[in-house]
Amino acid sequence: MTEHRKAIIRIRDLKKAFGDQEILTGVNLDIPEGSVCGIVGQSGTGKSVLFKSIMGMIKPDAGRVWYRDTELTDLPYLELVAIRRKFGYAFQNAALFDSMTVGENIAFPLREVLGLRDRREIDRRVREMLEWIELPGIESKRPDELSGGMRKRVGVARSLVMQPDVLFFDEPTTGLDPVLSETINNLVVRVNRELRVTCILITHDIPAAFRISDQLAFLHRGTIVAEGTPAEVAASDHELVRDFIRISFNELNL
Ligand SMILES: Nc1ncnc2c1ncn2[C@@H]1O[C@H](COP(=O)(O)OP(=O)(O)OP(=O)(O)O)[C@@H](O)[C@H]1O
Ligand SMILES: [Mg+2]
Repeated sequence: MTEHRKAIIRIRDLKKAFGDQEILTGVNLDIPEGSVCGIVGQSGTGKSVLFKSIMGMIKPDAGRVWYRDTELTDLPYLELVAIRRKFGYAFQNAALFDSMTVGENIAFPLREVLGLRDRREIDRRVREMLEWIELPGIESKRPDELSGGMRKRVGVARSLVMQPDVLFFDEPTTGLDPVLSETINNLVVRVNRELRVTCILITHDIPAAFRISDQLAFLHRGTIVAEGTPAEVAASDHELVRDFIRISFNELNL
């Protein structure tokens, strides 16, 4: 039913090169509002570049990106900064500040971006987020006292505390064991279902992407070579897509 949903993000003919290395050669993609949209593809193919281009962290060479009715490309810087508050992201390495406690990490965007000063209000929001990610009471711990999986969840909490409309996950399960990966994948699903946040999941974990996405896009050599529901992508006749899926699922049976 995804084709009837409105696109929250639309990407048209997006191009990006670094020197003479062409990374994105014309990406077209609609991300349906309220979906979990998986973006998969080989390592080094440009998934993170695509995500950063959507966020406006990288300036594309050509093409256009819309968030709802606003075109982000060519938006004046301050307007882009304002609209970026609608986007949250959980990075590959969680990127917490090691010199701060968990509580201070989560409070950071509330103070620095929203300018909140009311200590009790900040503490309340931090506590609520930690309860939501099922790690209550760890406010005073430091990131280096946490396991990799806990750090990732705290990273997600720090994004969620800003109540984003769209949340990007760039390789959220890389480096985690299968059980922890499942915890993070379930967290993505909860964010989507319970908080109604559109989730963009960039991942190598093809089986997980198939399981939890309702929309999938396959990036290869700078373009989207297959997209649609997981069933539609599974039925793609693109050779590389077929190989990639086959190998990913076969590895599970080894
Ligand atoms: N700022 C940059 N300057 C120059 N080259 C870059 C820059 N960012 C990315 N690249 C190059 O663009 C290509 C795509 O990188 P990207 O990080 O998007 O890959 P990816 O698909 O996310 O890979 P992975 O799955 O390993 O995370 C790589 O060859 C990378 O070296
Ligand atoms: Mg990447």
